[in-house]
Amino acid sequence: MTTSHSAVPNHHAGFPGFAGPAGYLAAASMVLGRKGNARLAARLSAVAAGDAVADIGCGPGTAARHAARLGASVVGIDPAPVMLRAARILTRRSSRAVRYAEGSAEALPLPGSSVSVAWSIACVHHWADLDAGLREARRVLKPGGRLVAIERLTRPGATGLASHGWTAEQASAFADRCLAHGFTGIETNQHGRGRRTTVSVRATAS
Ligand SMILES: C[S@@+](CC[C@H](N)C(=O)[O-])C[C@H]1O[C@@H](n2cnc3c(N)ncnc32)[C@H](O)[C@@H]1O
Repeated sequence: MTTSHSAVPNHHAGFPGFAGPAGYLAAASMVLGRKGNARLAARLSAVAAGDAVADIGCGPGTAARHAARLGASVVGIDPAPVMLRAARILTRRSSRAVRYAEGSAEALPLPGSSVSVAWSIACVHHWADLDAGLREARRVLKPGGRLVAIERLTRPGATGLASHGWTAEQASAFADRCLAHGFTGIETNQHGRGRRTTVSVRATAS
């Protein structure tokens, strides 16, 4: 579902979710070509050994495994069992530092002040409730913890698959919501060029 208000950062809140054979296909399609976003998330959040990372909407776990390779302990969270199954299969041999849990941005299955980094890649545009998601991110982040959201940059008025992501206006609206939720040091940036351009919002929990 796409709302008509172009500045809404979770404009695909009504997306039905991934399940069944189509869900597995979607998970497979998210394994390839996602390393760039994983590296970008790690760079923007300065992930290092000793960090505890929450990968919100982890899908098949590409970014979770990347954070673990950098020495972090990671929990990948996703509401879609099909994604968690794919993530566990792909992670089994590569890392003991990653675990996966069923949950959503709006109800993170984590204790308060338990992570130093929370990121959400190609996912915030699906959050059912933006404010609940930001409240949860703030709750689970330790003071000084880093929040990073990354989305594909989309064109205003795009429809269908081409609309999965954020316009510059939607990114800016998300940054405004971060500010309203008490995050500080908020930065919005674009990366790459052409059809591969992504947009990020980085913020710090106080
Ligand atoms: C486009 S995929 C991106 C997966 C992964 N982050 C990546 O970049 O490869 C979006 C993911 O967000 C998950 N998702 C959808 N709604 C969510 C919500 N409210 N909270 C957390 N994750 C959600 C979906 O199940 C899906 O795995």
